[in-house]
Amino acid sequence: MAIKTIIEPFRIKAVEPIRMTTRAERLAKIREASYNVFRLHADDVLIDLLTDSGTGAMSSNQWAAVMRGDESYAGSPSFYRFEESAKRLFPFKHIIPTHQGRAAERILFSVTCEPGQIVPNNTHFDTTRANIAYRGATALDLPCAESRDIAEPHPFKGNMDVGALEATLEREGPEKVPLVMMTITNNSGGGQPVSMANVRAVSDICRRGGIPFYIDACRFAENAYFIKLREPGFENKSVAEIARVLMSYADGCTMSAKKDGLANIGGFLATNDEELARQEKDLLILTEGYPTYGGLAGRDLEAIAVGLDEVVHEDYLQYRIVSTEYLGKHISREGVPIVQPPGGHAIYIDASAFLPHLKPLQYPGIALAVEFYVEAGIRGVEIGSVMFGQVDPETGAETPAEKELLRLAIPRRVYTQSHVDYAVEAIIEVWKRREQIGGYRLTYQAPFLRHFTARFEPLAART
Ligand code: F0G
Repeated sequence: MAIKTIIEPFRIKAVEPIRMTTRAERLAKIREASYNVFRLHADDVLIDLLTDSGTGAMSSNQWAAVMRGDESYAGSPSFYRFEESAKRLFPFKHIIPTHQGRAAERILFSVTCEPGQIVPNNTHFDTTRANIAYRGATALDLPCAESRDIAEPHPFKGNMDVGALEATLEREGPEKVPLVMMTITNNSGGGQPVSMANVRAVSDICRRGGIPFYIDACRFAENAYFIKLREPGFENKSVAEIARVLMSYADGCTMSAKKDGLANIGGFLATNDEELARQEKDLLILTEGYPTYGGLAGRDLEAIAVGLDEVVHEDYLQYRIVSTEYLGKHISREGVPIVQPPGGHAIYIDASAFLPHLKPLQYPGIALAVEFYVEAGIRGVEIGSVMFGQVDPETGAETPAEKELLRLAIPRRVYTQSHVDYAVEAIIEVWKRREQIGGYRLTYQAPFLRHFTARFEPLAART
């Protein structure tokens, strides 16, 4: 009989110590940080689940490639290795390196978007939304109906509502929509995948309307693996093949190599459009760098080139998806409400259902982030009204987000199963004392992306 236990498909060659802290120390630290976990010093955190972005462990092959990095200003061989590796999975004509995903977004929206236009997406991530807003355009989320029910599992809850897209294009006219985007996997919607059928349907609509279709490809390998597991017809295809088919439906993509590039920094913008690529490279030179490095060192390009090869290995992806699911299963079994099914890179706890006595504008996601940190030094991130609530610039009145979530994102190849077991135990401890957890009020906020720097105060004194 085959062994059923799924192990981390790697050995550990270098280790980083975790600095242990006491509960009293953590209480003092979070108070100093004005109850915003972004303001903590990372060495005061035991298990850092703030993000899976740029926090992964590189392989020995990636570190070896780093040494090969060629730092020539123009035409570095590292760029050509990066480009070749990227084109194996993203067969677009132009691959333009950028320092990370949001730089690709800024350049794309700068050359395609005019004030007053609308960019539909299944669900925009915060940087995408902010970069569109910065151009004076509107980021429109069109998630599928299944995504609204947090507790209901559905294989492709990341999908776009195709009917709503058609209705939007009919209402607004194609000239008002410079491009349509799809985020795979749908990060803000719970790390849920998008099906190939949905990508194809959106692509067809865009092609009929003459509208460019772009993919936000940050977690393309996790999405492709979910397609292999869940969508009939793909079970015998390799993840690399599935990724290529996904991309073939698009006119270009934005990519943060800090996620499924298995690198600590980097990204790219890809397009098949000659004229657009020329404009994008001009802008790149202005703010990022020459088109064969785009704000990255040659060594970063090498790390990404190897990372893109490694991320589509199926033993890696099996471990990745199963270990995220393990966290979700073990906490939901004890009653902790999560977005079902577990996402690819993260578990999203339903903070409103966890703390039903708190109103959205008492920020239940912030309350949970604080409790997980105080309980066990675990750092998660609120994805709720602080991140996505709307503030009226004139009156200051706040409209809450649709959902109040707390995301626990798993860095790639960093934590072992015992770290996850520790997190499970801590989350269950907080769950047991949920009725005593109070809400928060904002005492400071910035006009854009306020969640990074906001300050809070507990509504009632906390111990
Ligand atoms: N698109 C998605 C879907 C993302 O999740 C992110 C980053 C970006 C674009 C921007 O990429 O950080 O390289 O500039 N998400 C991180 C997160 C920050 O924690 O989910 P970037």
